[in-house]
Amino acid sequence: MMRSIKRWQCAAAGVLTLGSLLAISASAVAADAARPVTFSKDVAPIFQAKCQECHQPGSIAPMSLITFQEARPWARSIKERVATRQMPPWHIDRSVGVQKFKNDMSLSDDQVDTIVRWVDAGAPQGDPKDLPAPKPISADNGWKGERDGYGPPDIVVKSSEYNMPAQHQDVWYRPMADLPLTEPRWARMVEIRPRSLKARKTIHHSIAYLVLNNDPEAVNTGTANGPDRRGNTDDDIVNRRPQLMEWAIGKGYDLFRPGTGKLLLPGERIAWDQHIHAVGEEIASGSEIGIWLYKKGEEPKKRSYLIGFTGIDRSKMLDIPPNSMAMTEGFTVLKENALIENFQPHFHLRGKSMQVEAILPDGSKQVISYVGNFNFNWMTNYIYDDDAAPLLPKGTVIHVTAWYDNTKANKNNPDPDQWVGYGDRTVDEMAHAWMNVVYFNDAEYKALGEERKAKTVKTTNDEKQQ
Ligand code: HEC
Repeated sequence: MMRSIKRWQCAAAGVLTLGSLLAISASAVAADAARPVTFSKDVAPIFQAKCQECHQPGSIAPMSLITFQEARPWARSIKERVATRQMPPWHIDRSVGVQKFKNDMSLSDDQVDTIVRWVDAGAPQGDPKDLPAPKPISADNGWKGERDGYGPPDIVVKSSEYNMPAQHQDVWYRPMADLPLTEPRWARMVEIRPRSLKARKTIHHSIAYLVLNNDPEAVNTGTANGPDRRGNTDDDIVNRRPQLMEWAIGKGYDLFRPGTGKLLLPGERIAWDQHIHAVGEEIASGSEIGIWLYKKGEEPKKRSYLIGFTGIDRSKMLDIPPNSMAMTEGFTVLKENALIENFQPHFHLRGKSMQVEAILPDGSKQVISYVGNFNFNWMTNYIYDDDAAPLLPKGTVIHVTAWYDNTKANKNNPDPDQWVGYGDRTVDEMAHAWMNVVYFNDAEYKALGEERKAKTVKTTNDEKQQ
């Protein structure tokens, strides 16, 4: 409705100001607005661009959205998922926090509007001659990084496989693997994937820890947050066994910003931590990590550390009573100046919303990101644009607020009558924000801040000149 009013206004303005010549094109515009939206002309190009990567035979989604015949039976469900912004799985709130991302897969408001109008009009096919040229189908277990144009990974390290029986309790499978390196190298991008399409069904998460080999450069990441239940502090955990990457259902790759990366040393090994879930058929389950390296001579200066900023005060218990909502908060002080590269909220089945806020040393607050409709099937990783990635002074407190829904309104809730506490099983709960962090000394921090200021001034001036 909004849209047709806007069109009508522009058409009217055209007629009034420029006379009959424009009246012709104005009526063409009006005719275009009145023309029914069809699958072939309007919807297929959107599905091609934003849906088919997952919605094609053999990929992770339950149905293909390539042909009209395949898509038509799903029309109602498509409208619902698209209008509520559950699909594509990009759930970050569009009204607060950082809004520029490197891997944004969301639909524009216009695209949502087109799909909704198509369904409301009875989901017509239109003229198949209007269809866009078909996109090649890659129905394999391909690397997302390769599909996005980064080429194949330079190194692939596989975990051994665990034969998950058809019925079984959840398993945490933790084998070791060697890193095939003879000299220090820097990773610029990493991607974990299940070893096969079948294994995709069983693996909830997979973490590759780097088992350090007397790393001389290991630094204090400055995020110590008090001892955990086992008496470890974050510093111990991070310094002894930093994470190379965490992957969970629905996640793609981690791309480090230019000039930053993960240092890999010869002799280091990968310790896997894979959470495997039985799905009614026996499946050989395991993961592999693809590593894209910086070219020699182009090594970055800075390391990026994957930190799980807690959303739970660890001195208290997580306590989610049956049939209720709950909220917890976690506070972590940044001991060094830091740049935050991405946000990936992590919960289990009762997770509902997560907000990350920075409380600056001067007391002011800044929302970094908020996801209001978290969905357990989607551990989406929101990678900030280089210029939008939050740059924070030391002393900033990262405040993570987590909300849980243990009622029957939560479609992922296996049993709202259960009490839920903290734990590793999918039916237990946890909450943290995975973020890659790069630390800067005061001089570097100042220089980076000034560089950004100069850029903002330049873009504002450019915009004014247009
Ligand atoms: C990153 C992969 C991915 C992308 C991109 C994606 N989907 Fe999905 N979609 C899935 C998966 C996996 C499921 C099943 C799990 C779920 O429901 O979340 C799904 C479920 C759905 C469902 C629900 C099906 C049902 O059972 O009722 C609809 C409808 C849907 N997607 C439509 C779309 C549309 C339309 C687009 C593009 C605008 C899209 N999806 C983009 C992976 C994807």
